[in-house]
Amino acid sequence: MKKIITYGTFDLLHYGHINLLKRAKGLGDYLIVGLSTDNFNLQKGKECYFNYEERKQLLESIRYVDYVIPEEFWEQKKQDIEKFKIDILVMGDDWEGKFDYLSKYCQVKYLSRTPEISTSKIKSDLKKFHYNVSSFK
Ligand code: CTP
Repeated sequence: MKKIITYGTFDLLHYGHINLLKRAKGLGDYLIVGLSTDNFNLQKGKECYFNYEERKQLLESIRYVDYVIPEEFWEQKKQDIEKFKIDILVMGDDWEGKFDYLSKYCQVKYLSRTPEISTSKIKSDLKKFHYNVSSFK
């Protein structure tokens, strides 16, 4: 069985996330997602709309995702790769080159991001939308 792992925050789940997860699963048989915890997100300067349990529940409902584990710190990837006997680590190409040091332990692949969508964009578009709606009241 070929095992894949990927990591991320996956807040306000969108089609860019789904595309990534679908392609990641297509590279093997079993997909594990290391989901950033709320604490880890704070360390990264990210504040989520959905908390960890909510984001986990959403990911677990996706047919491409087999198992969700918490991602609590940067250095845990090596441990996870060994513990779960991972064949391929997959990341979006916004991370290009950043995890090449793990290629001693498994294959490392960067997949192209889906253009023009991100959690940050949704948040900022919703702010503009709210502003426009309020200005009509
Ligand atoms: N991703 C992708 N295409 C997008 C958005 C995200 O392939 N349009 C991938 C990222 O490259 C990453 C995974 O989905 O491998 C999780 O990304 P995450 O950072 O949680 O999502 P973003 O939408 O990029 O969130 P933010 O705007 O907060 O950075």
